[in-house]
Amino acid sequence: MGEILRIENLRAGYGEAVVLPDLSLTLEAGQSLALLGRNGMGKTTLVNSIIGVTRRFGGKIILDGKDITALRPDQRALAGIGWVPQERNIFKSLTVTENLTAVATDGKWNVERVFQLFPRLAERRFNLGNQLSGGEQQMLALGRALVLNPKLLLLDEPLEGLAPIIVDELLAAFRRIIRDEKLSAILVEQNAQKILGVTDRAAILERGVIVHEAASSELRKQPEVLEGYLGVGKAKRT
Ligand SMILES: Nc1ncnc2c1ncn2[C@@H]1O[C@H](COP(=O)(O)OP(=O)(O)O)[C@@H](O)[C@H]1O
Ligand SMILES: [Mg+2]
Repeated sequence: MGEILRIENLRAGYGEAVVLPDLSLTLEAGQSLALLGRNGMGKTTLVNSIIGVTRRFGGKIILDGKDITALRPDQRALAGIGWVPQERNIFKSLTVTENLTAVATDGKWNVERVFQLFPRLAERRFNLGNQLSGGEQQMLALGRALVLNPKLLLLDEPLEGLAPIIVDELLAAFRRIIRDEKLSAILVEQNAQKILGVTDRAAILERGVIVHEAASSELRKQPEVLEGYLGVGKAKRT
């Protein structure tokens, strides 16, 4: 199988500010990682560094054995990094189908398979992006990332602000994509318990540093660890 992602001593941030002082991480092909941490701890900055839109002060990023550190964001996307940003990037003035066909590439994931994964989107295929609910937009953003047939999928807080029934639909889709189809993925979440049932491993970020790494199944059984780092249980979410 081998490693799909290897980050070595990454030092990155914005302008003069270093957000990630010295971060190392590996992910095996076919595995998924829950990236956890409270607000402002550097989760998005790590995702942004993998896609190549932060300032890098040092370190290396290797995707599937290829050093992508010097590549631009568009070149990294072509190299196989799929990304769904926190703000859900879809074309609001295109239909659902057009949103998907505009970016589709040859591969396992095509428009029809996205519609099988999300029947709700299939029903709305002729609707414009701006006519979709937040949950449907999230499904479409995920579909767009899938039809690019990435080697590694990055999802930044995909469940944020969505109704419980939609969250359950998305979690079921993640299970299919990650567990059944074995797509390598990093899922950023603040809501740890939900995502730990879907991912293989978990890493907790605190002030840009990975302070805890474990199998997701282990971490699920350690509410005191989650409580300590994430403040879950005490409704401390902001
Ligand atoms: N574009 C930016 N320019 C400068 N600082 C930023 C920028 N984006 C985020 N930061 C800072 O980086 C730190 C980590 O933020 P972020 O990675 O967004 O955290 P998270 O995704 O875990 O909530 C925060 O202190 C935040 O203020
Ligand atoms: Mg974030």
